[in-house]
Amino acid sequence: MTFNATQIREDFPIFERTIREGKRLVYLDSGATSQKPNVVIEAESNFYRLHNAAVHRGAHQLAEEATDAYEGARGIVAQFLGAASDEIIFTKSATESLNLLAYAFGNAYSGNRFHLQPGDRIVVTEMEHHANLIPWQELAKRTGAELAWFSVDESGRLDLSDIDSVITVKTKVVALTHQSNVLGTINPLDAIVARAHEVGAIVILDACQSVPHMPIDVKGLGVDFLAFSGHKSLGPTGVGILWGRSELLNELPPFLYGGSMIETVTMTNSTWASAPRKFEAGVPNMAQAVGLGAALEYLQKIGLPDIHVHEMALTEQLINGLQEMSGVRIIGPADLTMRGGVVSFTMANIHPHDLGQFLDAQGIAVRTGHHCAWPLNRKLGVVATTRASIYLYNDEADIDALLTGVAAASKYFARG
Ligand code: ALA
Repeated sequence: MTFNATQIREDFPIFERTIREGKRLVYLDSGATSQKPNVVIEAESNFYRLHNAAVHRGAHQLAEEATDAYEGARGIVAQFLGAASDEIIFTKSATESLNLLAYAFGNAYSGNRFHLQPGDRIVVTEMEHHANLIPWQELAKRTGAELAWFSVDESGRLDLSDIDSVITVKTKVVALTHQSNVLGTINPLDAIVARAHEVGAIVILDACQSVPHMPIDVKGLGVDFLAFSGHKSLGPTGVGILWGRSELLNELPPFLYGGSMIETVTMTNSTWASAPRKFEAGVPNMAQAVGLGAALEYLQKIGLPDIHVHEMALTEQLINGLQEMSGVRIIGPADLTMRGGVVSFTMANIHPHDLGQFLDAQGIAVRTGHHCAWPLNRKLGVVATTRASIYLYNDEADIDALLTGVAAASKYFARG
């Protein structure tokens, strides 16, 4: 199938509506959350309409159908990532996936490979979203481990010049983003994974901004755990994924305790089911998991390689257009190598919140603020930025609209 953004938009009911008194919806905020195609809305709603029952529990037909749908979705996610089904854990969000890991590490007794103690090191980067920074800060405080990080240079790339002194032999965890939600930078995993594994550290990847936008094969990436969210991947809210290597999931202690995650229970002791059940206590977000399955099938039908090429063409158009404007500073790499379709920028003398409101009045949705990456903003000397994030349903007209809007804002605010 030839990639056709106009045709793709027809699959998304939200694009049938207009914004701010009849204007075309120019949605450039998919980094925050993506819009949903009909197939996802229908899959979620059909689960409730036709199959709703608690999975893994009932002896009746509905429970069987619900379990089949839920486990079918797990199979789709596994296939999407090049993983095995029992390596896929449904969570409520990518944030929960990352917290699950940090809490599970914290639950490890001495002797378990995930146990951390004073003298151990956890490594992150300066470009982490708060969801992949704060859980590790807190784990470091609870265990006495030290938190260290890779810094970001002025161009928005990781500085790996001191890789061996950042990832030391004492490093147990390296947690980093695949693609920055602010800069668009895609990080060079090969060097980091090689060094981390050389010292026996576990590599955890926040793939929220990459999995929905480019082909990903977890085995090829070489990392040990990976998290992404459903709602940024055309799926419903309330569902996230944690992928982990089987042998690691078997050793990792649980995070949440309760129904469905056990093997045996007595009044004083319990043992755990094998992964993924060990990590899915309670009745899970079943309809949302099924919706995510439909979303990933839809993305695969369109084709992730084509989606990525399309997004990068629009990214180039946007970066080129912004570079021609005076007073605009792109925050992040301006070259297209190892970057994705997220473009943040500042404008001289216009606060991003004012720009965001100005663009909104024209039907253009962007995100403004620190984008949940406060340390990165501080490092780059900005209080906030305006961020456009691109997805498969965007087209050249969306980018033209944004560039026209930014140029108009420049004139409007210059008048004071
Ligand atoms: N993490 C999301 C973003 O970057 C919400 O906008």
